[in-house]
Amino acid sequence: MEEPRTTMSIDLMADLAEHERNAVAELRDAVYPPAEEADWSGADVEWSPARWRVGIWSGDGELATHVGLLLRAGTLDGKDVTIAGVGGVKTHPRHRRFGHAQRALRAAGEFLRARGDVDFGLLVCEPPLLGYYSGLGWREFTGRLLVTQYGEPTVFTASPHVMTLPVLGPAPADGVIDLGGPPW
Ligand SMILES: CC(C)(COP(=O)(O)OP(=O)(O)OC[C@H]1O[C@@H](n2cnc3c(N)ncnc32)[C@H](O)[C@@H]1OP(=O)(O)O)[C@@H](O)C(=O)NCCC(=O)NCCS
Repeated sequence: MEEPRTTMSIDLMADLAEHERNAVAELRDAVYPPAEEADWSGADVEWSPARWRVGIWSGDGELATHVGLLLRAGTLDGKDVTIAGVGGVKTHPRHRRFGHAQRALRAAGEFLRARGDVDFGLLVCEPPLLGYYSGLGWREFTGRLLVTQYGEPTVFTASPHVMTLPVLGPAPADGVIDLGGPPW
């Protein structure tokens, strides 16, 4: 089922007006209540901020869904690659199960393909969402993910699953991906 009268856009985070930034913060707090933040295993992880976001608004003007995007010059098995980061995927509890996240993720994939400079996408997720992302063309990456944390190279272990999306090239399923910076 589709929620009526939604609108979608892809925006540079740096171009967001103050009320749009506030809407992003309100959505974050609705999905991850600040009181529960301390219990979150990723609270101490250094994350990279998104450069763009896909936003979906409900008919009453509430930001229903946010998907963050960024680009990263990294390596796959030692070869230079451009990786698209997809992160911060969230839908307001009042607007779930209308297909908004699915629509935003598909739009993100089209945006990345249209750029012509992205080799593959990468996201990290919890076990229950493996099937969801698989249904949207993502595959599990079971190799090693190297990142930096506060300037130090390290192996990423904060999320149990890493998934990749084919863009210009195939989605890697194993090997070594080095993000050359913090994860997202
Ligand atoms: C995951 C999330 C973004 C989905 O948003 P949405 O707009 O409702 O997504 P869609 O309508 O496209 O798809 C809904 C489907 O997502 C899947 N899904 C969502 N949350 C899930 C969970 N915790 N476990 C398993 N599947 C889940 C289900 O398949 C669901 O369909 P169903 O309810 O009919 O079984 C939303 O539930 C959310 O914000 N969750 C909390 C934040 C989060 O976990 N984000 C993902 C980070 S990787």
